Amino acid sequence: MKLVVLISGRGSNLQAILDAGLPVEVAAVLSNRKSAAGLQLAEARGIPAHSLAHTEFPDRAEFDQAMMRVIDGYAPDLVVLAGYMRILSDAFVQHYAGRLINIHPSLLPSYPGMDTHARALADGVKIHGCTVHLVTPVLDRGPVIVQAAVAVRSDDTAETLGARVLAAEHKIYPLAIRWFAERRLVFGDDGKVNLLNDEGSEQSVFYPGA
Ligand code: GAR
Repeated sequence: MKLVVLISGRGSNLQAILDAGLPVEVAAVLSNRKSAAGLQLAEARGIPAHSLAHTEFPDRAEFDQAMMRVIDGYAPDLVVLAGYMRILSDAFVQHYAGRLINIHPSLLPSYPGMDTHARALADGVKIHGCTVHLVTPVLDRGPVIVQAAVAVRSDDTAETLGARVLAAEHKIYPLAIRWFAERRLVFGDDGKVNLLNDEGSEQSVFYPGA
């Protein structure tokens, strides 16, 4: 199975995916920021790395079309958003429908958008976490594939909580990609995702987390 990974920055989820020994080929890494550290990580492993600066395109639609041309050159089975911090056009989402996944640093549908750890702390929630989901046109609202729960501590800051959530991200993103590659994910018409077990019957997905 061929993956293209989209990033905007550090690339620690990209690294976790590359280090997980998955039965996949990461065919290319694309970034919308030339300075993204994850691009060097890809280059160091001999993976084609492309950066297209969104600031050099007239609008979102044209930028996304340019990204799609590069991505489609690799004919990926799965497009993986790993800290890709751009809102996607509907045309982009529709083009990759069913083969576009994202990781988000909260237990969706709680805390879509930015600053998830600070918002969770401000609300005093006791359980936080991260979500891998299929991408649909509504931001951070697609079918949930897997989530990991992280207990909030009374002395947490956004940084300490975020670090524990990130460690959980590094476990569940490779896991979700493995399930996708093994064709074990069943995407129901009701917007729910189930996992085929060894006997071929469906089970719901829960990862106990960190
Ligand atoms: C991760 O925490 C990821 O969940 C988040 O950006 C970070 C990227 O880190 N993504 C989003 O907030 C998407 N809305 P990384 O570059 O080290 O993988």
